[in-house]
Amino acid sequence: MYRLLRPLLFLMDPESAHVLILNLIRLAGAVPGLRDAIHGIYKAPGKPVELFGLRFMNPVGLAAGFDKDGIGFRGLSLLGFGHIELGTVTPNPQTGNHRPRIFRLVEREGLINRMGFPGKGAFFVENQVKNTKRGSIILGVNIGKNTTTPLESAVDDYKILIDRFAPIADYLVINISSPNTLGLRNLQARKALEHLLADLDKVRKRQEKILKKRVPLLVKISPDMTDAQLKDSVETIQYHELDGVVATNTSISSQITDQIDLEESGGISGKPLNHLSTKTISKISKFSNGNLPIIGVGGIGGAAEARSKIDAGASLIQVYTGLIYRGPGLVKDIVAGLSD
Ligand code: FNR
Repeated sequence: MYRLLRPLLFLMDPESAHVLILNLIRLAGAVPGLRDAIHGIYKAPGKPVELFGLRFMNPVGLAAGFDKDGIGFRGLSLLGFGHIELGTVTPNPQTGNHRPRIFRLVEREGLINRMGFPGKGAFFVENQVKNTKRGSIILGVNIGKNTTTPLESAVDDYKILIDRFAPIADYLVINISSPNTLGLRNLQARKALEHLLADLDKVRKRQEKILKKRVPLLVKISPDMTDAQLKDSVETIQYHELDGVVATNTSISSQITDQIDLEESGGISGKPLNHLSTKTISKISKFSNGNLPIIGVGGIGGAAEARSKIDAGASLIQVYTGLIYRGPGLVKDIVAGLSD
């Protein structure tokens, strides 16, 4: 069915098509009969994974950025995902960059985006999560700083967000790798990361005492670091006993941009990112001696790419751009392909 729908959606501006689809999914998730029908079509085979003390129904998740404000996760959970990562959520609402800010690279099955974390803010998302039935789906929340927060006080934004979401999320992801928020990636540098993680670990431990459970805390990694930078990041993340990494975010590396005639700026996702993302996962696995759990993301458009990410060291994988090109049946196809 998606083969028929896609040409129509591709006539629309990518962000308008996205908003439309997300709202349709949200509505479908609220209608009992329709919910069962959709679940019947897209339900993925069981292939459980135990990680961070959580049980995922299968290894395939929805990457951050698709449902930034948590409006559609009830409907999205009918599409076969084992987990859904909401966000990036910022403490206060913000509009992000000017539109248009998402562009399709149709022949290459890629996207360029420079969204800049638009969203309704933490209070709205908290209420969405609290007031929505979620069944057995694992729900992660990806957190980021507001554009107007100076880099020196970014830690305060992340602290607020951990306090707010630790009680209601299954896991949290610190996003310091988006290329679309000025200076954000500087937080990945060793010294800055050490300060940030030392402080955030304290907040997490405080929450652990209050909640009487450990809420897994992960870091989302850029694919554009040098080997030395990546090794530093991995060591710092392990030193502060974070639970894992999500690898990778979108890329602005010339390794990719040189091969594509780009008219727009922003982070590249989808097929052009696949190889670089898998290479980054292999390196993280090597630098951590296989001791740091990895959620692999970047350019997965089928079971083959998912398998490569797992072979490189990922325990779970996520998709975003692949869904735009292949449709929601992708999730079930990947899980089935990984089970063969
Ligand atoms: C993203 N991504 C993203 N990541 C993140 O941590 N926070 C975010 O808010 C967003 N927003 C976002 C918007 C759009 C339009 C896209 C295409 C991507 C990155 C995403 O989660 C993922 O890491 C990359 O897109 C790579 O995966 P795919 O798309 O190649 O499967």
